[in-house]
Order: sequence, then C-alpha cells, then structure tokens
Amino acid sequence: MAIREILRMGDPRLLRLAQPVMVFDTDELHLLVSDMLDSMRAVNGAGLAAPQIGVDLQLVVFGSNERNPRYPDRPLVPPTVLLNPVITPRSDVEVDDWEGCLSVPGLRGMVPRWESIHYTGFDQYGDPIDRSVDGFHARVVQHECDHLVGKLYPMRVRDFSKFGFTDILFPSVAAAEDD
Ligand code: NI
Repeated sequence: MAIREILRMGDPRLLRLAQPVMVFDTDELHLLVSDMLDSMRAVNGAGLAAPQIGVDLQLVVFGSNERNPRYPDRPLVPPTVLLNPVITPRSDVEVDDWEGCLSVPGLRGMVPRWESIHYTGFDQYGDPIDRSVDGFHARVVQHECDHLVGKLYPMRVRDFSKFGFTDILFPSVAAAEDD
C-alpha cells in the first residue's frame, strides 16, 4: 500500500495531454492502480486520475461500494478502473452541479456537464469497458477524464458567483471535508 502525493493546481504536470496505456496486465500497471486506489480512498476522493499523482497516462479510478463522506447525498458509482477512455455525449443536455477536486483543495464550483454519456475504455487487464450512464456517474467520469486532457474543473466554471470555499458555501458539510 502506498499513498502518493496528489499534485495541486498550478503544477504543470496537471496540464499535460496524457499518453495512452499501450500494455495491460503488467505488474507495474497493477502497482500503479493499487497506489491510485489507496491514494483516492485515503482522502475520500470520488475519483483520481493518474496525472494527479504525476503519472502521464490515460488512467482514472473512481467509484466505491460505500457512500462517500465528501459527497454523502450522491448515488453510488461502481468501483471502476478505466484506461484510455473515450466519452461520447448521448444528447446535448447539460446539467449544473457542484464539484470539488483533490487537486483544488478547499473549493467547490458549479460546473456544467453532459447529463448522459456513453463511455468506453479498458480495465487494467485489457478487458473492454462499455457503458451508458447519466447523472452523478456521468459527471464523475467527465471530471476524471478531463484530467487526462489537462482540464481542471475551475476551467469549466461559467458562473464564478458559484465558485468558492467549501466551508463558506456549505457550512453544514464542512465537518466531513478533509480538503
Ligand atoms: Ni479532480
């Protein structure tokens, strides 16, 4: 088990276009996935992308079988390891909701995302993933995959009157925060 340091906004490694994973099911890849899951769970992240620990690969992890204390009112998203993802919107409909990010600690912002998406990719064994999802699941996937193209959620905020410190915006949930 290894908890890796999570890079914070301003680090140029968060702005790169991540490289596709070319070889699956290697010891090195399994170790990286294990470290990412440990690092995400240690800070109650809804997800984590490899660039956030300085690894320049198209690899994200997200979801949990247990409710997330940082997002207690959101539906469960199945635990997923997703490599080389491709996202396609299923309609033009966008929805606004609050997001936070482990690389942007202490802040939340209102971010528009597609309401419904189709996504494909592979797991760490090279087995294909092909899902149609909506709502919070769709939002988490879009947020995490944005990290693979150098996008942090503040770059998606349109209304900066809805961007601020978590403990000011949401005093009642601040106790559950560790970012
Ligand atoms: Ni993030």
